[in-house]
Amino acid sequence: MKDLYKKHEERFGKVTSRIYSACINLGVLNLHSFVYNDIKKRITPSSKAILDIGFGNGLILWRLAKDMKKRGIDLYGIDPSPEMLKIANERMAKNKYNVNLKLGSSRIIPFKQKFDIIYTSLSYHHWEKRESAVPYILSKLNRNGSFIIYEYDKDARTRFNLMHGHMISEEDFDSLSFKGFKKIIKKSQHIIIVEFKKLENLQTKNKKPLININKKIKNQKTK
Ligand SMILES: C[S@@+](CC[C@H](N)C(=O)[O-])C[C@H]1O[C@@H](n2cnc3c(N)ncnc32)[C@H](O)[C@@H]1O
Repeated sequence: MKDLYKKHEERFGKVTSRIYSACINLGVLNLHSFVYNDIKKRITPSSKAILDIGFGNGLILWRLAKDMKKRGIDLYGIDPSPEMLKIANERMAKNKYNVNLKLGSSRIIPFKQKFDIIYTSLSYHHWEKRESAVPYILSKLNRNGSFIIYEYDKDARTRFNLMHGHMISEEDFDSLSFKGFKKIIKKSQHIIIVEFKKLENLQTKNKKPLININKKIKNQKTK
């Protein structure tokens, strides 16, 4: 089986996936509840499909599955870890939830359709090559769609400070701005929420690949 992780990304193998899955309820329950509630608030009558990138043991999708079934919204998830896929599939099967889970990564989204909401929780800090992954993900959004990143905020002084390597700072997003998308950064307690929202008026004409605006400006300066 092809290894979907990049060289320096932390692998969630058989043991780490089971340990993460067993301990997760204690450590990140608040963040999961926050993500779950925030995604529910973002749903509009036109929402049809939601994608979770790096779903881990699938807890957030599992919570969403119950509500989304009633609303006719399809749920999708990708993760590079075969073990996480197995754990999440087992979880969904117990409740007979129909969630489309596949192996994939921030660089490989193996679904044909586009999404109204794409989110990633506590996974972005693991990714390599974020500058190319983000525009790739944005290209998978429907009209008015949003890509939302949820992480622990490195700039907040909390009891989680020991986990600094697993946190993200606002300045990590300075270099990420894309034509046709609005970047919105919010903070709530110790969580940082970064949204890239597709702007309606630009998206139909804009068939060209997404340009990282900051990179373009930098290149112009060096000419
Ligand atoms: C700390 S877990 C978080 C799981 C879950 N989203 C949560 O909030 O509990 C990180 C997950 O991201 C996945 N991951 C790591 N690198 C990734 C990448 N480049 N693209 C997508 N997922 C990745 C890992 O396999 C793992 O399941």
